[in-house]
Amino acid sequence: MPRAEFPTGPARLEVRDLRVTFGGVRAVDDVSFSAEPGAIVGLIGANGSGKTTTLDMISGLVNPDHGTVELDGVDLAEYMPEERAGIGMIRSFQDCRLYPELTVYDVLMLCEDAKREVSVLSTTLQLPWARRAERAKRDAVDQVIDAFGLGRFHDHRTAELSTGTRRVVDLASIVLANPRLLLLDEPTAGIAQREAEAFIPLLQRIHQVADTTIVLVEHDVPLVFSLCSSVVVMELGRVAVAGPPGEVRADPKALMAYLGASDEAIMASGPVHQDSAAPGDQ
Ligand SMILES: Nc1ncnc2c1ncn2[C@@H]1O[C@H](COP(=O)(O)OP(=O)(O)OP(=O)(O)O)[C@@H](O)[C@H]1O
Ligand SMILES: [Mg+2]
Repeated sequence: MPRAEFPTGPARLEVRDLRVTFGGVRAVDDVSFSAEPGAIVGLIGANGSGKTTTLDMISGLVNPDHGTVELDGVDLAEYMPEERAGIGMIRSFQDCRLYPELTVYDVLMLCEDAKREVSVLSTTLQLPWARRAERAKRDAVDQVIDAFGLGRFHDHRTAELSTGTRRVVDLASIVLANPRLLLLDEPTAGIAQREAEAFIPLLQRIHQVADTTIVLVEHDVPLVFSLCSSVVVMELGRVAVAGPPGEVRADPKALMAYLGASDEAIMASGPVHQDSAAPGDQ
């Protein structure tokens, strides 16, 4: 049984030579990168370039054919997805979004319940420690409601919220899970550009409030460049370019790799066109 000791605070992630094949297609091919404690690493690339599959191998949903995932120097090969969650590796979009009839407050309380095991019996009997635990739970939920500006949606059912606000509730629930490594797969997918812009300060806040390392998969290239401390560009399952945003932005290979990204992303990444090779050069 894997029972290593892990430190507290943001985790260090090291991904080495990850490779997986689905029905003859090499979805991910020798992918290596690392995330220092507290870093925000962006993973970008065209549709089908292997970003989600890479996150799946990090979180343990997909077993790699080859390669390793290490958290704080510990090889996670023997860790099941639930065990990875138990050591602070939290994947975006929690189960609680599946309860459309619950209010924002109740959804977040449910996430806290899942974390703290206070038995129904001791809560019903109003044992003093159970009352204290109840209060701590409410405090934690009130804090994230404040931190994410969700106060006015407190009693709204999640089904009534806009997609953007629902995503904020999802992200608030993630913070309650105390992540040490947060894996976010396209948190702005399906929301309006105006709302997507509001995600930059929101993700910065999560990063601060949760004090966590983040791996962010995003099609919104400008968002990734402004938020991330390093950027990994994937192309056909491989890492095409990786490094600090300034270097990656100036690399013509990066432009080629995300030309297959959404038209919106390419239009929005204006400065890249000016600094780098013209698309017609390929
Ligand atoms: N379960 C699966 N079975 C078969 N092929 C798969 C499976 N999951 C992914 N693939 C294939 O692996 C490749 C990488 O897919 P992946 O979903 O990781 O790409 P992505 O970069 O996340 O794309 P997108 O930007 O569209 O989300 C694609 O060719 C995809 O069709
Ligand atoms: Mg994907």
